[in-house]
This record gives sequence, structure tokens and C-alpha cells, in this order.
Amino acid sequence: MDLLIGNRRYTGSKRIILEDIYKAIVPYCKGKIVFADLFAGTGVVSSFMLEKGMDVIVNDTLKSNFIAYQAWFGQGKIDIEKINRIIKEFNSLDGKKIKDNYFSNVYGDKYFSIIDAKKIGYIRDKVEEISLTEREKSVLITSLMYTTDKIANTVGHFEHFLSKKPEEKGIFLRPLKLEKFAGRAIIYNIDANELVRKIDCDIAYIDPPYNARQYINFYHVLENLVLWKKPTEFEGVSMKFKRDHLKSDYSRSKAPIVFKDLIDNLKAEVIVVSYNNTYFARSSASNNKISENELVQILSSKGKVITKEIKHKFFNSGKTNFKNHKEILYICKVGN
Ligand SMILES: C[S@@+](CC[C@H](N)C(=O)[O-])C[C@H]1O[C@@H](n2cnc3c(N)ncnc32)[C@H](O)[C@@H]1O
Repeated sequence: MDLLIGNRRYTGSKRIILEDIYKAIVPYCKGKIVFADLFAGTGVVSSFMLEKGMDVIVNDTLKSNFIAYQAWFGQGKIDIEKINRIIKEFNSLDGKKIKDNYFSNVYGDKYFSIIDAKKIGYIRDKVEEISLTEREKSVLITSLMYTTDKIANTVGHFEHFLSKKPEEKGIFLRPLKLEKFAGRAIIYNIDANELVRKIDCDIAYIDPPYNARQYINFYHVLENLVLWKKPTEFEGVSMKFKRDHLKSDYSRSKAPIVFKDLIDNLKAEVIVVSYNNTYFARSSASNNKISENELVQILSSKGKVITKEIKHKFFNSGKTNFKNHKEILYICKVGN
């Protein structure tokens, strides 16, 4: 079966509350809408709004997310038959005949079996060698990334690998189910605070990280696979490459300051902020960096704020049991 955009594990993904988000913004949608998804993660929210006919500005600081947006939403040329042929060739590779490579040396026997890791590394090298358009390259890397994530010896992110030895699961790339959207996407890979200084939109959707858990720590293996600069220095047993420049201020104590700067510089008719309050979690890394009070105060400087509560099961590293935890949408009609 072909891959769908939501077929990946991603902390904080809004995949299961897309309808709720849409319902909350529909009263503000008159005519052609430009929807800005400033912290887009998987891109599922953008994809949903594109399907509804909105134009979308989609952004994330991680290249592994950006490459996926280019694959799913890009307008570049793509020869589907050629891609299917390449995927078929990759899927018929015999891992036992592949030599050790960068990926198997770094992550083999940790996040993946040696044979699976050899195949991933081999395929990623091949994608650089064969003649492809930018979009075709994005599609193949995205397909490889989704497969790599799916078979990883983890609980769903790469903060650590599991203590049990990784099994050989096999690398089977799947084609992407690419859609023709009614809306158009403009794709960015920059800090959201920089982006808001460049764009104008009707609805801005804001879904930043809210606690100390850095997304780059969760997805460093996928980011390294996409960037493919083959760094050789790593931290700790979890093999995290040097990534300070990819860490987010939204996961640091200055989060309220950067959030205020974001809101102050945002040019939008309506601002929608997703928030889930994990403040009383037992793990301090799960505590929110921006309190609800701070958030409402900052938003209120732009206009009247209303709240919508959505029931949502979410990630908290398993230390705290949140039954009936709610995701909250803060909606601010600017100027009201
Ligand atoms: C809660 S997740 C978004 C989930 C997304 N709504 C979805 O449904 O998949 C937050 C995202 O913000 C990104 N991020 C963190 N700091 C950022 C920044 N300063 N600018 C842009 N993106 C950032 C992270 O890489 C992460 O993907």
C-alpha cells in the first residue's frame, strides 16, 4: 500500500485531531485563505488544509520535515514510473551482499540490525548518485525516512534505542500516495520567528514544542539520514551528532520571550495556538516552558482570545498517566 503523510510516528502530531482543528477555524474562513503552519512537524495539518482548498505556508526547522514537505506538497517534476522502478530495485537488494557503510557503522546493532542499517546507508548513498529531479530525490528520501522510522529499535523516537538487540526487519520502501491539492504550498525551513517577519497570512497555526524535550534529540537519526553530511563526532551511547544549531528556543527557559516576539511580529487575521498542559508531569523535562497564563496574556495583546478544548491522548515519555488529558486551542481574532 502506498504511504500516506500521517504514516509516521511523531511526538505531538495532530493527526487525530485534524477535524477538530478545522472545525475551530471554519467560522473564520471566508473566501480564499492563506494558512500558515509555522511549526508544521509531519505536515499533516498543512495537508488537511490544502485538501480543503486553502493555500498553505508550511515550515519547520528540521530538514527531515522540510524534505517531506517537498515530497508531499512540492510542485517540482516527478516521473512516477521511474520512482516506482527505483523503489522496486531498492527493495530487491540483498543486504548480505552490501558492504559496511556510514549508516551501518554508526547505527548498526543499535537502532537497526547491521543488515538493515547497511541497506539504509546503501540506498541513501545511491539516491545521491542517480540522476533525479529535486522532487524525485525528496520523494525517495521521504520514503526511506518513513521506512527507517518504522523499523527502528525504539519506542517511537530516537532519544534512546531499546536494550534488546535489533531484529532484522527488512527495508521495504513504499511509494508515496501523492495528491493534487486544490491549494498551493509555499515551503520553508527556517526559524518561525524569522518567518513571521517575511509573510502575511489569514490564519496562523502555532504548534511549537512546549517542554525541554528537543525535537532534534527525538529525530537526530532521521535528520542525519536526510542531511547526509556524515558527521563523525557523536554524543553518548545514543549516537547524537553535534546539533546545537538545530535546538529550539521554545524548549528553553527563554520560550516566553521568543513566543512574545513571534506573536508581536505575526501578520495574521486569526491566530490559533495548540497547547497541552503537561505542567504537573513527574518528569521535569515534560514541564511546560510557557504557562497558560503567559500564553493568554501574550495573545491577548493582539485581540480577544477564546478557547476550544479537544480530548487528545498525547506523548509524555510514559512517566505520567494523563487520562482525559485535553489539547486546547487558543483562538485570537486579531484586532477584536
Ligand atoms: C509539536 S511539533 C508540531 C507537530 C505538527 N503540528 C504535526 O501535526 O505534526 C513542533 C515542531 O516545531 C518544530 N520547531 C521547533 N522550534 C522551531 C522553530 N523555532 N521554528 C520552526 N519550527 C520549530 C519542531 O521541529 C517540531 O517539528
